[in-house]
Amino acid sequence: MRRAIYPGSFDPVTNGHLDVIERARKLFDEVIVAVAHNDQKQALFSLEDRLGFLRETLAGQANVQIAQFQGLLVDFAVAQKATAVIRGLRAVSDFEFEFQMALMNRKLEGSVEAIFLMPKEEYTYLSSRIVKEIARLGGETTKFVPSIVVRALQKKFAR
Ligand code: PNS
Repeated sequence: MRRAIYPGSFDPVTNGHLDVIERARKLFDEVIVAVAHNDQKQALFSLEDRLGFLRETLAGQANVQIAQFQGLLVDFAVAQKATAVIRGLRAVSDFEFEFQMALMNRKLEGSVEAIFLMPKEEYTYLSSRIVKEIARLGGETTKFVPSIVVRALQKKFAR
């Protein structure tokens, strides 16, 4: 059983995340999409909302589980018997942070391998942060996030 964790803030999930999940589930028997519960980082959506968006969007995908985690990612990966951590790499600008994180995780726990997947080129520019900014300024987010998220963003930023 090859199991991978795909961790992130998912605040909120975007079509870029979904593209990475789609690629990961072809490579692994099971993919656990793990939403980080991080008190240090101010999120727009609550943990429950972020989990709910993922649950609704990924419902019916047989080998995808949705979970939350707190504390070290590698501890969660070991507890879940996962052998890989998936991260999306969009552009060179992602690389420095991802490289640092992957090598630190390896120092902490050698049994978990970092695997980087590139989303479709059309998602290279896409990030949760930018989607939130567009929504806050009254822009259209339909092309970038699942419909449940479009509605939630509209509600959050209703004028
Ligand atoms: O979507 P994000 O915000 O880029 O995800 C970052 C995340 C949640 C994957 C990262 O912050 C993380 O792994 N947090 C858990 C705490 C941890 O293990 N820190 C040490 C990493 S070197």
